[in-house]
Amino acid sequence: MNHTSDKYAAIADRLASPGWAIVPNFLSGELAQSLRDEALGRYRDGSFRAAGVGRGEGWRRAPGIRNDQVLWLDEPFSLPQSRYLAELENLRLAINRSLYLGLWDFEGHYAVYAPGTRYVRHLDRFSNAKQRRVTAIVYLNDAWQPEDGGQLRIYLDAEDNAHDVLPTRGTLACFLSDTFYHEVLPAGRERLSLTGWFRTRE
Ligand code: OGA
Ligand code: MN
Repeated sequence: MNHTSDKYAAIADRLASPGWAIVPNFLSGELAQSLRDEALGRYRDGSFRAAGVGRGEGWRRAPGIRNDQVLWLDEPFSLPQSRYLAELENLRLAINRSLYLGLWDFEGHYAVYAPGTRYVRHLDRFSNAKQRRVTAIVYLNDAWQPEDGGQLRIYLDAEDNAHDVLPTRGTLACFLSDTFYHEVLPAGRERLSLTGWFRTRE
């Protein structure tokens, strides 16, 4: 096994147990910068939309739950998007090899949290999105400090012990979508990420 595939296999091992993984510098600085530039450009030109909750006919805006803005990745993918999706394809294959989850594809969106916005505690796999099995988020922010807020807080157990993740550029947060409650604490600065889900076919 070469060094590169080790990177994905190590994440798959962490997903097997304890079910979540935080990986600083999962993305190269250069790819993270390209994704950031693209996200910011599309945000400033008005391509983002208010995020909602639910899916299909169950979709609704819910500013009391989340008030970020999102832009779904869609074909034709830009070059940085294609490079990111190639990284995730390696991860998908590694997870399928060791966890037999039968992950089939990936859906994802850029998200921008304006100062003061948040996403309250929730699970990503809900009744209308049963196909979501593994959440994968990369962060696109420079020099984030704890006092900037906006941490991803992952609840680890029934006692609500939690792990906080700074949304620092290039960091990957990955966890089983039906197992880990999590939230985005109110952000004190504009906060960019690329959030998505590996899905099973049905
Ligand atoms: C989500 C989510 C977390 C984050 O979009 O479902 O929980 O850190 N995002 O952006
Ligand atoms: Mn979530």
